[in-house]
Amino acid sequence: MTVLTGSGLSAESGVPTFRDAQTGLWANFQPEELATPTAFRRNPRLVWEWYEWRRKLVAAAKPNPAHLALVELEQGVPRFTLVTQNVDGLHQRAGSREVIELHGNINRTKCFEEDRVVTDWPDTDEVPPRCPHCGGMLRPDVVWFEEALPETALTLALERSADCEVFLSIGTSTVVYPAAGLPFHARSRGATVVEINPSSTPLTKEADYVINGAAGLVLPELLRRWRGGKCSAR
Ligand code: APR
Repeated sequence: MTVLTGSGLSAESGVPTFRDAQTGLWANFQPEELATPTAFRRNPRLVWEWYEWRRKLVAAAKPNPAHLALVELEQGVPRFTLVTQNVDGLHQRAGSREVIELHGNINRTKCFEEDRVVTDWPDTDEVPPRCPHCGGMLRPDVVWFEEALPETALTLALERSADCEVFLSIGTSTVVYPAAGLPFHARSRGATVVEINPSSTPLTKEADYVINGAAGLVLPELLRRWRGGKCSAR
């Protein structure tokens, strides 16, 4: 089984999704104003501070029943792979051991110039702070629009999508490629594709099963049925 998660999974932890018109993370900005290298060059302070706000939001959030159900599935299902577009680290905090992060992690910082991950830097009033190695600006280690996904993570995600029997797509609008291509890739290789989402997405018409509902309710219920032997998961 391969699972792809998106920001809808963390919605019930109080972390807003990206595209909700009123409360989403882009509510007051266009994504291109915040999450691109061009935006960072134009206004590094704005971008850094927006991520600081998100880091605090995520630090205060707790994994919800959907994250916990996926931990149990990882422990019980042979050949289980969890792929996430989320940068909040909530899967790991819930206890998931192997997580393929396609879009990086907001809790890591890297150098904008040299791309190396930086864990410590001298105290400073400068925003954003500077890389202690080369003096370049520091930025969050997440994938922005116009940037490539980490190659190893994407290759593994494609492989695991191609060779699973069941593919679950949970809490993602399925619009941001290449991640959005994974369920379609799985389906073209013969997997049974299940979507869990309260709203429709471009995947809805193509999926074998669609469960219209919040992940925090649907996943624990699926788990209960699976434990009771009423459904199989491979
Ligand atoms: N349970 C399941 N799904 C939910 C829930 C919930 N409780 N609440 C909302 N959703 C669904 C929404 O219906 C929507 O389809 O989650 C989806 C969230 O979609 P987006 O906001 O577009 O988030 P995501 O798909 O993760 O975005 C992909 O875009 O900008 C980038 O890098 C960012 O990783 C992100 C990527």
